[in-house]
Amino acid sequence: MELRLPSCTIRPWRASDLESLVLHADNPRIAANLRDVFPSPYTRADGEAWLAVAARPSNFAIEVDGAAVGGIGLRLGEDVHRRTAEIGYWLGEAYWGRGIVTEAVGALTRWGVEAFDLVRVDAHVFAPNVASARVLEKNGYVLEGRLRRRVEKRGEILDALVYAYVLED
Ligand SMILES: CC(C)(COP(=O)(O)OP(=O)(O)OC[C@H]1O[C@@H](n2cnc3c(N)ncnc32)[C@H](O)[C@@H]1OP(=O)(O)O)[C@@H](O)C(=O)NCCC(=O)NCCS
Repeated sequence: MELRLPSCTIRPWRASDLESLVLHADNPRIAANLRDVFPSPYTRADGEAWLAVAARPSNFAIEVDGAAVGGIGLRLGEDVHRRTAEIGYWLGEAYWGRGIVTEAVGALTRWGVEAFDLVRVDAHVFAPNVASARVLEKNGYVLEGRLRRRVEKRGEILDALVYAYVLED
């Protein structure tokens, strides 16, 4: 799968992405907004471990100017949640504010709905992450609720916002 968009290309991760991955992922301002499985500091070993498992069919690199500078993916639901997925994403700070992830989330959502016959895509955002909430809202995701005190991040308790892109009947 490869989605060529005006601002970026979404494509599978490659072993040769390691240098660029570690360069852009090693940033506490990125890790602060993601689950602890995305570490900070982000070491070469973390990058290698990620690239070893990233070959799942719904994990992709965001490529800009020929380099992998971010990640985006769908975690597919199982059992009774099989027609749903959860979207996740991050982008190297040097590229923030150019509309790149807005474009990537829109394209990956449309692709995922089609490819996996989904009726719903969820996104979970830590409440202080206004930029991510904007990205979702601009792509038709709707705020469904605030899960109060749902997250502990670096010792701080945060609310989580649940957004969903829903295909109506
Ligand atoms: C969140 C993130 C993915 C956004 O990527 P991006 O490519 O910079 O996003 P875009 O440029 O497409 O859009 C960002 C939007 O948020 C807005 N925004 C950015 N910072 C903001 C802030 N502090 N307050 C309000 N709005 C803000 C921008 O103005 C823009 O909206 P607009 O087009 O209406 O002006 C990126 O900052 C990132 O990787 N953050 C760390 C990881 C993360 O948060 N991942 C998501 C976890 S749910």
